Amino acid sequence: MTETVEKDAYQAGYEFVVVANRLAVNRVTAKDGSTGWQRSPGGLVTALAPIMSSSGGAWVGWHGAADETLEPFDHDSMHLHPVPLSGQEVEDFYEGFSNGTLWPLYHDVIARPLFHRHWWDAYQQVNQRFAEAAAKVAAENATVWVQDYQLQLVPQMLRELRPDVKIGFFNHIPFPPPGLFAQLPWRHAVMKGLLGADLIGFQRESDAKNFQRAVRARLGFYIKSDRVFVPWEDDAAAPLEGFTADPARGTAPRQLSVPAEGTFRTSEATAFPISIDTDRIVELSNDPKIISRAAQIRAELGNPDTIFLGVDRLDYTKGIRHRLKAYDELLQEGKLRVGKHALVQIASPSRQGVETYQRLRDEIELAVGRINGEFDTMGHTAIRYLHHSYPVEEMVALYLAADVMLVTALRDGMNLVAKEYVAARRDGTGVLVLSEFTGAADQLRQALLINPHDIDELKAAIVQAAVLDREDEQKRMRSLRRQVVSHNVQRWAEEFMHRLHEL
Ligand code: G6P
Repeated sequence: MTETVEKDAYQAGYEFVVVANRLAVNRVTAKDGSTGWQRSPGGLVTALAPIMSSSGGAWVGWHGAADETLEPFDHDSMHLHPVPLSGQEVEDFYEGFSNGTLWPLYHDVIARPLFHRHWWDAYQQVNQRFAEAAAKVAAENATVWVQDYQLQLVPQMLRELRPDVKIGFFNHIPFPPPGLFAQLPWRHAVMKGLLGADLIGFQRESDAKNFQRAVRARLGFYIKSDRVFVPWEDDAAAPLEGFTADPARGTAPRQLSVPAEGTFRTSEATAFPISIDTDRIVELSNDPKIISRAAQIRAELGNPDTIFLGVDRLDYTKGIRHRLKAYDELLQEGKLRVGKHALVQIASPSRQGVETYQRLRDEIELAVGRINGEFDTMGHTAIRYLHHSYPVEEMVALYLAADVMLVTALRDGMNLVAKEYVAARRDGTGVLVLSEFTGAADQLRQALLINPHDIDELKAAIVQAAVLDREDEQKRMRSLRRQVVSHNVQRWAEEFMHRLHEL
């Protein structure tokens, strides 16, 4: 176990520390070749930046390049503390354990998770490095908020280093059903890592319940009203290495009643569905430049009757293949026609070092090429496929241009694109076709909800979306907008922090 950090070392630290695999800034290169930093556009950074600047905050994270050690620096009223990763760690911790083991396992094993012991070793080492970095920058009794599946061991590691700090954790992706989670050879260590937090946030109720059921079944801890009673002796004495194998080999004994006072601490596991920076999207959707860009996009596509839009990281969880299959069949059957209908598919490059992602890209591009080869005319394309990332301004223009948004994920923690589309549709038009396997489906009940595995149902929803009568369309969109406007990411962050401080 690592030694407790000396008190003197952290007395002048930061009151609020975020720990995430990615730092809150991206490196940008100017025309003259000089490099600088720019705040990341994502909702998480937007939500936390105000808390950072008001409470003296630091952000601990990897800056995205291998084999490079950077000194801490300040940017945009945030103190940034870069954590280095070697090339080998990028392979074993990031591409390996995070995205080759946990990501597929937590997304219903849509792809086969790989279990490699050397990946697990790297995961532990890198998590320890993040925990130590956080321990170094946090002020006495600070609040530390750890983000996402790449860092599940950090809460407990940090607690051992800094018992004085308040620790929150938020899991941005699903937490799998206990039967799937049980496959993980290091399931005990992961649960214990998470239980180091005072508050563990999940996207959906069902994620929080999955976690609780796994903890009850495997660790045997007593749980009441979302609170897990973590026995002290267990908490203090259990170095994570001790859990590389499953000592019980089966179901742990259950604690059927509240343990005696003074023998436990509690860790609350509950749902806090994340959202978007709604005001920013609404503001952009009002911008005349963006509105005219939307008109330009429609014109460039030949002013079809219906523009369908898909926006995803190029990831096998997003159901892009299912979407293309449904679209292809509708073209084959003549229910959609090139010229009258157009599909724009933005697939932003992602995790290109991981083999499953390389294979997926080949498959998607083969499918798009085939469909376009068969249905394109000289003037029109069936699917406008773009393997790019775009700035938020262009995204909002696309949302305004699209009559129908297609979100067909096979499993998704939340899906913020669905919420952004809704936020951008100020005039109350637009149809959202939404997979019931997204976290967003729990809140956006007035979308056209579909099971993406059911290709016939998906096809029917695509056709229904294209012909939905205006009244129905607006009624649905108004209700969706009420949800997204009243639950923005700032509120999500406030509610989480409020609960963390209440505990
Ligand atoms: C998901 C995860 C994030 C991750 C993002 C992009 O949204 O929940 O933690 O940062 O994907 O993936 P990347 O691997 O590029 O960080």
